[in-house]
Amino acid sequence: MASLPPWLAAICLSITLTVTVIVKKLRAPSGVRQSSLKPIEVVEKAEAGRLKLGPEPTIATSAVTPPFDFRHEPPRAYRPFKTRTHVAMGIEKVPQSDWIQMDWGYLDRINERVPVMEANPQWTIGVNDTSTPAILELFKEVMIEHVPKHFPSMFRLDGDILTNCITQQTFDVERASKDPALALRTLCRNVEEDFYLMCPDGQGDWRLQGFISCFPGGFDGPSRMGMSFRDIHLPVPHYEERIANGVDKFVRRMKVDGQLVQRFNWSLQVDGKDLWRLDGNNYYPEKGHTLPEEPQSIDIGQCWLRYERQTLKMLPETQAIVFCVRLYMTSLRDIVREGNGVELADAIESMPEKLGLYKMRPFWEKDVMAFLRHAV
Ligand code: HEM
Repeated sequence: MASLPPWLAAICLSITLTVTVIVKKLRAPSGVRQSSLKPIEVVEKAEAGRLKLGPEPTIATSAVTPPFDFRHEPPRAYRPFKTRTHVAMGIEKVPQSDWIQMDWGYLDRINERVPVMEANPQWTIGVNDTSTPAILELFKEVMIEHVPKHFPSMFRLDGDILTNCITQQTFDVERASKDPALALRTLCRNVEEDFYLMCPDGQGDWRLQGFISCFPGGFDGPSRMGMSFRDIHLPVPHYEERIANGVDKFVRRMKVDGQLVQRFNWSLQVDGKDLWRLDGNNYYPEKGHTLPEEPQSIDIGQCWLRYERQTLKMLPETQAIVFCVRLYMTSLRDIVREGNGVELADAIESMPEKLGLYKMRPFWEKDVMAFLRHAV
């Protein structure tokens, strides 16, 4: 290939550098959260390495695409609330590459989940003989195959050693591939998704047999061990008559082809931003919850839309179904600021009475609805 004349090369280099600076400015968030952990040299080096002139001018476009840097990645702005009068499956296909997500909150949430796991292993880690093969298969899929491939600037695999370039920690994946509890703890230290293993029961159904659950929104994992999709959802109003058959049909048709589907779940958390909630934001009369005499007074500054991106996929070897939950929090002030206050208010109002009660609407609706509709 003929090399460029020096004057043309100089112009191309100047254009490339200018575009790089503009792209970086556009991508850089205004408020990247600080973390106590050290910044990553590996990412910096890789980025610097990209500022080269490509062999042909057309390559300049790809030369300015920076490698993935979680610090510049905003959280996905899912807004899953919808005006509808019934519970719904709401399942859609998504690319397999979109299974695990990283954004600029990564370190903060790893820093929040690890102490939760260490302090509460009896609630956060679920493992038994039935789920052991599925947990080990999940571990290999996520830690050995998925994250090094999709986030090479964050995870590096050298033989049996996985390096998390962000936290500067190393993990012996060979050892973890034989020990299900260690496998779950290693997942917890590296990705912020929670995982629930629904294992085949040999009778044509799937049952919860294992989990790593650091950010449950009221899900008491140990008490649900051994339960089917139907059993788990017994507290959910209208689940049985509306979607239980559809869910069972859907899971029986799942294949081991790696197809990933997602759905969303949302609730309002009106008393702070903590992610670890064993006694969640739902109303359970069977647990002794009672309705207040009148709506509670709410501090809007403490109100968050808490929503979960839930994905399902079947593992090829064990045919366990992995229910993967990624949590997002957006303050109600931000919901209003971005212009979605009325839409959320409409969604809250449209819920049938029992579902509204289940999401604790009578507890907070007076102040929250006033705020969403008028931003008082
Ligand atoms: C196809 C799969 C599934 C569908 C369609 C589904 C659907 C639903 C729906 C409609 C609700 C209530 C409304 C809402 O908040 O969105 C719900 C709640 C819930 N789901 Fe699922 N779900 C599925 C799988 C699972 C799995 C595998 C688990 C756990 C391993 C799970 C755990 C829960 C929990 C804990 C709740 C709240 C119930 C409670 O308060 O105890 N779901 N689900």
